[in-house]
Amino acid sequence: MHSVRGFLAVMIFASVASGLPVPDKLLAPPTLHSYLHQLGAGYGWRNLTCPICKVLFAALDISLEVDSNKEMVASLAERVCMALRLAEPSVCQQTIQLFKKDIITAWVLSVLRPSEICGLLVGADCGVWDIGSNWNISLPNKPKPPVVPPVPPTPGSPVSRVLFLTDLHWDRQYLPGSSASCQEPLCCRMPPAHNQSGAGYWGTYSKCDLPLHTIESLLRQVSAQGPYQAVYWTGDIPAHNVWQQTRADQLDALRTLTGLIRKYLGAVPVYPAVGNHESTPVNSFPPPYVQGNLSSHWLYHSMAQEWHHWLPQSALSTLRTAGFYTVPIGPRLRLVSLNMNFCDLGNFWLLINYTDPAGQLQWLVEVLQEAEEKGEKVHIIGHIPPGLCLKSWSWNYYRIVNRYESTIAAQFFGHTHLDEFEMFYDEETLTRPVSVAFISPSVTTFINLNPGYRVYQIDGEYPESSHMVLDHETYILNLTEANARPGQDPRWTLLYRALETYGMKSAFPADWELLTRRFLQDERLFQTFWYLHHKGHVDEVCQENCKTTLLCALRSGRSSDPELCKDLLLPGKPLWERKQFC
Ligand SMILES: *[C@@H]1O[C@H](CO)[C@@H](O)[C@H](O)[C@H]1NC(C)=O
Ligand SMILES: *[C@@H]1O[C@H](CO)[C@@H](O)[C@H](O)[C@H]1NC(C)=O
Ligand SMILES: *[C@@H]1O[C@H](CO)[C@@H](O)[C@H](O)[C@H]1NC(C)=O
Ligand SMILES: *[C@@H]1O[C@H](CO)[C@@H](O)[C@H](O)[C@H]1NC(C)=O
Ligand SMILES: *[C@@H]1O[C@H](CO)[C@@H](O)[C@H](O)[C@H]1NC(C)=O
Ligand SMILES: *[C@@H]1O[C@H](CO)[C@@H](O)[C@H](O)[C@H]1NC(C)=O
Ligand SMILES: [Zn+2]
Ligand SMILES: [Zn+2]
Repeated sequence: MHSVRGFLAVMIFASVASGLPVPDKLLAPPTLHSYLHQLGAGYGWRNLTCPICKVLFAALDISLEVDSNKEMVASLAERVCMALRLAEPSVCQQTIQLFKKDIITAWVLSVLRPSEICGLLVGADCGVWDIGSNWNISLPNKPKPPVVPPVPPTPGSPVSRVLFLTDLHWDRQYLPGSSASCQEPLCCRMPPAHNQSGAGYWGTYSKCDLPLHTIESLLRQVSAQGPYQAVYWTGDIPAHNVWQQTRADQLDALRTLTGLIRKYLGAVPVYPAVGNHESTPVNSFPPPYVQGNLSSHWLYHSMAQEWHHWLPQSALSTLRTAGFYTVPIGPRLRLVSLNMNFCDLGNFWLLINYTDPAGQLQWLVEVLQEAEEKGEKVHIIGHIPPGLCLKSWSWNYYRIVNRYESTIAAQFFGHTHLDEFEMFYDEETLTRPVSVAFISPSVTTFINLNPGYRVYQIDGEYPESSHMVLDHETYILNLTEANARPGQDPRWTLLYRALETYGMKSAFPADWELLTRRFLQDERLFQTFWYLHHKGHVDEVCQENCKTTLLCALRSGRSSDPELCKDLLLPGKPLWERKQFC
């Protein structure tokens, strides 16, 4: 029994660890299945036989209903965390305390069904572990309208400017002069032990988030540079101190930043999306069938309260239930804000049932079908990009984008903290670009980046408008320069304009596809992209495998699809491991 609990403890930590730095060897490759296998092997559990496994987990299932046993599991998890040096002891302790209730509940409801867990641990002969198996949403039996390739608007047509903010990650404990390097997952918040380089006044090139005065400086500047038709704000409000956050902390961050954005942007409508850091424990977003105190009620209701100035009742109503909504934002333009936590491998609640959580994709299909019939265009915003989603979710989403390519005018995401994009191709041949998901870089510095934000130029409001992206601008705060003059409100400067910098004719899907092909041929152009990918603060070179991996990511609007990159990959050469900043 003891070791089974120990293994369970490691698994608890496996889920928890998505919010903490885990040694690389435990993380590669990033699928839950092999992840747990590796952890299991590390703990000596390869030799478990099927019948023993089932008996043990049936017993555990029952014993975990008793609260004192949950405590025992949690204390074991703490010891495992410390023994494996997964984090500093105090971080281990606080993390496990914070996460134990939610994760154990999710498991009692799901994974601990003996045949499933044993299928995972012992092998398919012992039971069915069907995480990652396929499910299909259904598309209406209405013919897809003929596709008309987009053309640039006639000169002089109205252009909308949309301010895009993502991944603010405000650290209320950020302390200028504090230690910029530390053992914890987040630094720049403790007095330095000895003469280390200290945290800058406006931010730091390190594992650090941002002080409020930097975010305020950004808002002050953008408010002077309007007008904007709208602000799209795709989440991750709190800092990365995920091992110690309370619900009250998360709500305080939500209220503080909502208030600040309203203060500086006044009447401009703001359309938010829910990030994976909004909750605590991080990534914990139970679908609506989880009721009671563990549900996301506390979060979504506060969001609906805070955002009621920006959203109509109908949107607030679905926001309260499941964190997503749709709202008409122009005579022929509709916005859909998705809750991408329902596609996220890190959301352990999905272990209970990963089939279209909250019915979100089926709902999306209905919204798009209605928009198609009304002749509306749709902008989709969300936090986690679709190419990083659980496989079935991602493939279904790809199918929806294919079916509604003439209705979905643009897609916008954040979460990676980097400047990039993901291509969508026609499902039949995977060669014709049908859509592009823009991924805007973070406001935060986490990790080693300049703070930044983006402005999209979008085909404006007139009857035949495509409402597609025409160009975009990325602004940064050069920390080296800003920190040299801490007493002075710094200037956020234009880093680049897409069309000009990349020499593109327009910013339609086919142009981004062409750009990725040019990256293959033109090393200088690719290195420009690599520099901008990091908002002008690069700390390593990118060649060969790194380049291949990144180009593959740009092509991968859906996850786990070897077809999309097969001509890029060199036989026998593994993909480079992309750093995770989110
Ligand atoms: C698993 O089996 C191997 C060889 O069959 C043995 O050396 C090892 O000690 C076993 N491990 C455990 C935890 O029983
Ligand atoms: C989902 O659709 C795909 C492609 O049409 C099909 O191959 C697969 O069997 C379907 N899966 C389920 C579970 O219906
Ligand atoms: C640390 O910095 C302080 C002030 O900057 C200086 O007085 C002191 O000598 C330094 N100590 C060491 C060990 O460098
Ligand atoms: C609900 O859960 C939160 C966080 O675990 C806790 O702080 C709060 O006291 C709980 N409320 C109730 C009514 O149980
Ligand atoms: C999982 O959710 C889907 C969609 O809500 C539902 O059809 C299915 O029955 C659920 N599966 C289980 C095992 O509860
Ligand atoms: C930031 O400023 C430093 C110092 O002036 C300069 O060397 C660097 O190139 C600047 N970075 C960017 C992205 O402009
Ligand atoms: Zn995120
Ligand atoms: Zn983030």
